[in-house]
Amino acid sequence: MKYSSIILSRQEAWLRIIINRPKALNALNKAVFDDLDQAIAEIESDSSIRAVSIEGSGDKAFAAGADITEFQSLDEESTVALSRKGQRIMQRLQDLRVPVFALIKGYALGGGLELALACHCRVANVSAKFGLPEINLGLMPGYGGTVRMSNLIGTTKAMYHTLTGDMLDAEAAHHAGLIAKVIPDEDFEEQTAKMMRKLAAKAPIAASAIIQALKPGYTASEDAMAYESKEFGRLMMTQDAQEGASAFVEKRKPIFTGN
Ligand code: CAA
Repeated sequence: MKYSSIILSRQEAWLRIIINRPKALNALNKAVFDDLDQAIAEIESDSSIRAVSIEGSGDKAFAAGADITEFQSLDEESTVALSRKGQRIMQRLQDLRVPVFALIKGYALGGGLELALACHCRVANVSAKFGLPEINLGLMPGYGGTVRMSNLIGTTKAMYHTLTGDMLDAEAAHHAGLIAKVIPDEDFEEQTAKMMRKLAAKAPIAASAIIQALKPGYTASEDAMAYESKEFGRLMMTQDAQEGASAFVEKRKPIFTGN
């Protein structure tokens, strides 16, 4: 298979997926989504894969969100479609029968965190930072993050971090139950490789049953997903969201007017 924006590599039964846009902090653009969709199909059809990891290229970010530069050309209908597509791919990832672990170094923000939330488990390095900062763009999460975040860390903390856009550091994310483990930066590669090899050697039928048993705890209803997409589309059409995206591209603070 040919991929333009992710790199796939096999180490026996462990499949490693690396999002490969380090200059844009691995922001999730259309090409990354199309590649991920194709990679998921590959995993679904290959029973020799026993564990999957997703990570970002470089040390600075797992993924810093949806690609904001793609927002400026969207109308409401295509924004809702983008959100539905992102939700569908993340749900497909969550529905995989092999363990999928997000290995997070650096920033996991917005759509990047939403991708990590759709994985069955997350581990991170000490320098990792987590957040849903869409409010700073006049937006809200659009890839299932509203539901998965509150299911995983509770409504109180999810509400606080989604309304303020404030990031959690690795220790706070661990304490909140967002990530399973924090690993020192310098040991991250070695420890995560060991962990993934261990996972890949476990009994696959048991692993699959465990995933199916635990998954309902953070699975969103179709109504909640549809609401998120509809609102994401409506917000994208506001002047505030246009100001948010322009301010990001122009590297300045946005001025929100409530229009
Ligand atoms: N989309 C597109 N490009 C991005 C990006 C994104 N989400 N995040 C970072 N980049 C780009 C920057 O534009 C910059 O590119 P140039 O070098 O060409 O200028 C490059 O990556 C490096 O970023 P910074 O210079 O900003 O690096 P920094 O260290 O100063 O800041 C950061 C790092 C705090 C993560 C900052 O980049 C940032 O705030 N990024 C945006 C985070 C964000 O808002 N994510 C949510 C996106 S919306 C979303 O995800 C919607 C959804 O749920 C569906």
